[in-house]
Amino acid sequence: MSNYHIENLEEYFQVYRQSIQNPELFWEEIAKENFLWRKKWDNVLTWNFSKPEVKWFEGAKLNITENCIDRHLDTRADKTAIIFEPNNPDEKAEHISYKQLHEKVNKFANVLKSKGVKKGDRVCIYLPMIPELAISTLACARIGAIHSVVFAGFSATALATRINDSDCKLLVTSDGSYRGAKKIDLKGIVDEALESCPGINNVLVAKRIHTDVFMKPKRDYWLEPLLKEAAIDCSAEIMDAEDPLFILYTSGSTGTPKGMVHTTGGYMVYTAYTFKNIFQYRENDVYWCTADIGWITGHSYILYGPLCNGATTILYEGVPSYPDYGRFWEIVEKHKVNQFYTAPTAIRALAKEGVSHLEKYNLSSLKVLGSVGEPINEEAWHWYNDNVGKKKAPIADTWWQTETGGIMISPIPYVTPTKPTYATLPFIGIQPTLINENGKEINGNQVSGNLCIKYPWPSMARTIWGNHQRYKETYFSAYENMYFTGDGALRDEVGYYRITGRVDDVIIVSGHNLGTAPIEDAINEHPAIAESAIVGFPHSIKGNALYGYVTLKEAGKNKELSALKKEINQLITEQIGPIAKLDKIQFTNGLPKTRSGKIMRRILRKIAEKDTSNLGDISTLLNPECVQEIIDNAHN
Ligand code: WT7
Repeated sequence: MSNYHIENLEEYFQVYRQSIQNPELFWEEIAKENFLWRKKWDNVLTWNFSKPEVKWFEGAKLNITENCIDRHLDTRADKTAIIFEPNNPDEKAEHISYKQLHEKVNKFANVLKSKGVKKGDRVCIYLPMIPELAISTLACARIGAIHSVVFAGFSATALATRINDSDCKLLVTSDGSYRGAKKIDLKGIVDEALESCPGINNVLVAKRIHTDVFMKPKRDYWLEPLLKEAAIDCSAEIMDAEDPLFILYTSGSTGTPKGMVHTTGGYMVYTAYTFKNIFQYRENDVYWCTADIGWITGHSYILYGPLCNGATTILYEGVPSYPDYGRFWEIVEKHKVNQFYTAPTAIRALAKEGVSHLEKYNLSSLKVLGSVGEPINEEAWHWYNDNVGKKKAPIADTWWQTETGGIMISPIPYVTPTKPTYATLPFIGIQPTLINENGKEINGNQVSGNLCIKYPWPSMARTIWGNHQRYKETYFSAYENMYFTGDGALRDEVGYYRITGRVDDVIIVSGHNLGTAPIEDAINEHPAIAESAIVGFPHSIKGNALYGYVTLKEAGKNKELSALKKEINQLITEQIGPIAKLDKIQFTNGLPKTRSGKIMRRILRKIAEKDTSNLGDISTLLNPECVQEIIDNAHN
């Protein structure tokens, strides 16, 4: 990345102005000077938010892996691309150079081809954070297959839903995974999922925990021997800038998860450019993002953004607490990490354990700290700033979404003065706006409203796989000619943004985006349960936790309630995964409803938050009498 490295606030404002006065010229220059294109574009941008349709760099040809790997081979062949830090600190870290990465990706790509995978086919990847996860993802991109990485904490049912929604034909997994002191039987979960996935013809299995697993003949193959035999050359499939690169599922407030589709050219340009400028990455820095590649943060800022810049990026298999709460800092010291990017929930969990774990390690290499996934509260911000950054490494509180592909609002470290809990200013090229309850844009500062984006940016998702109508309804129908984020925000007196949280039925728990509807659906499958409603309530570590109000059927009323609670969380674990378990469950005789039968979550939310002073007018409810009963029995 040579162009436009922003040095100071004045320059930021100047470049920002240019980027919104003439976005096409701006992005064209970035694209031209910093990437390897097999053919340049015919149009920089065509867009229409009412269809909606957005195309960046139309007509251009490229392969993103040539940008992430091949083009570095002249100057950085022996430079470390990926440092794999295993779960167990006694196991040696593995350094994978750009040259080795090139060979490994090519070999993997050849294995995929040998199993019949072609351009445009969907490949599901269900792996722990081991090198094969990065390599298989890039191998798909190498041959133009569309990867769909599913976070390996999801249950068999959730995995099957995602495989079937995008009709994947091959699955990559491992025999199992390590998570702290635990071993997880990943292959067992896969076998269960595949009972309902007739489209999967082949399963490639990496060895990680070396246990005996069931291998279905003619379907399941150990990776190792296949990789050994594979050729080390694999020419990159030449892709159109608008060909899909990947699908990544995110929760919606209703219905099935949404398979967000990201395309090749614009995604590459935007993730690489934001990585360089927001993390202030300099040659020979060591960068570490603690997210999982199963989330967008890992796609954009463990893999594509860093590798496009020829960076060294750490892939950490484990958790913050194993073998103890000093592990993150041990890794920072060991690999001399310069940029560290994590989530508020991790910061809060670490802060709770005190500073003694930090004091044992030398953190002086740290230059930039990042935060992502949910609003960072003031206390966590200061703890991070004072104890980890020692008031010297600025915090980039980065606001963005699976749908946006890359960071949208964030300070530029050493350029934008930070302010606790504020994501501060829009990144170059991003045009946020706030909308009031009448659907009108709010001008001026010291205002709050619903956060929208007025103009396309290169890495925005182009559609929802198989459901363009839902894409239109979810993001482009609330307000005319705007992308609606689903978040509320305020703008302070100098124009800094603070994200206040979701304004829809999505709840962010420990940085994981959870829709209430799928959880309610899971609970309602229980034969003793009539209906349920899930809301979020503040939690000191998770940010939000889940509170479930559950009404039993007549037949359920003589059941033992503590056993029922266990069964409810068991159902949720099976259908979605342990991340969606409820912290509190309250049995109710009824749920407050409007006259049209809609559950009034606003009231339930207030009760869960222990704020019942102002419930508003409840007299118009269908069943106002149930409210007092719910209040009386809450939080028991
Ligand atoms: C939602 C998107 C983007 C990668 C991780 C999450 C919330 C994200 C912040 C932040 C306040 C944030 C928003 C957003 N969020 N970052 N810095 N401050 N809120 O991706 O799972 O698609 O979730 O996470 O509510 O809409 P995601």
